[in-house]
Amino acid sequence: MSLARIVRPSAIRPLLVRGIASSARSAQAVPVEESPAPGKKAPHMKEFKIYRWNPDKPADKPILQSYNIDLSQSGPMVLDALIKIKNELDPTLTFRRSCREGICGSCAMNIDGVNTLACLCRIDRSQAKPSKIYPLPHMYIVKDLVPDLTQFYQQYKSVEPWLQNPNPPAGREHIQSQADRRKLDGLYECILCACCSTSCPSYWWNQDEYLGPAALLATYRWMADSRDTATAERKEKLQNDLSLYRCHTIFNCSRTCPKGLNPAEAIARIKLEMATD
Ligand code: SF4
Ligand code: SF4
Ligand code: FES
Repeated sequence: MSLARIVRPSAIRPLLVRGIASSARSAQAVPVEESPAPGKKAPHMKEFKIYRWNPDKPADKPILQSYNIDLSQSGPMVLDALIKIKNELDPTLTFRRSCREGICGSCAMNIDGVNTLACLCRIDRSQAKPSKIYPLPHMYIVKDLVPDLTQFYQQYKSVEPWLQNPNPPAGREHIQSQADRRKLDGLYECILCACCSTSCPSYWWNQDEYLGPAALLATYRWMADSRDTATAERKEKLQNDLSLYRCHTIFNCSRTCPKGLNPAEAIARIKLEMATD
């Protein structure tokens, strides 16, 4: 499979001159808004500029393609706009989505410079500037807004994100106290959207070795679980220069998490536990 690698949106702008020029033409073609008929909503046109790259034409550079839609005929979220564009204007536009309510993590993308979930992101209704939509940054691209998450999932798998305890209680549930259960709040809710890891400069440049905030949050989720007995093994795997210590506590990850989680704090807690062993 041929994959393009997306760099930071600002860095790819030189490649997008053709797309920007054509979008400027289509922006001029926006129809003049007229008074609505009684009982009808007034049209509210909005321009979206969307990253396009087709693996079937690997020699063609990525472009930003412009689409204008009437927000009075669309749902309020960016995912609603993308679905409308795909249904009514361009069926070739490719993106992932499933649950439409911030649970599956599949609609993660970069919207107006922020990694977030398209289904939880309200459309900026300002007509003064277009909304720009890119795939998650610094990832290889499968097509349009779809990043290749193979490495991201392999890293998650590598931290063995499941309960490890060779002696679980026989014949009954493996329970924990309410206080111990509360220690998992803010950790277990991760939906693996990859917004955090793909916002992290350390992950951009050391993706092959540095686990990234999502996989490290998952590591700490199990280290913090009173029922898990593999903490020593989990720490041992992180005893090298790159897997954990490439985090420089810049907090991009926590700022961007659409679920309000704090991977940077989880990473800091792992470092503290490693330091106080
Ligand atoms: S920590 Fe937040 S941003 Fe990172 S993968 Fe989980 S839900 Fe997504
Ligand atoms: S705090 Fe660590 S993991 Fe989060 S963005 Fe910064 S370097 Fe990356
Ligand atoms: S569609 Fe599932 S999180 Fe957005």
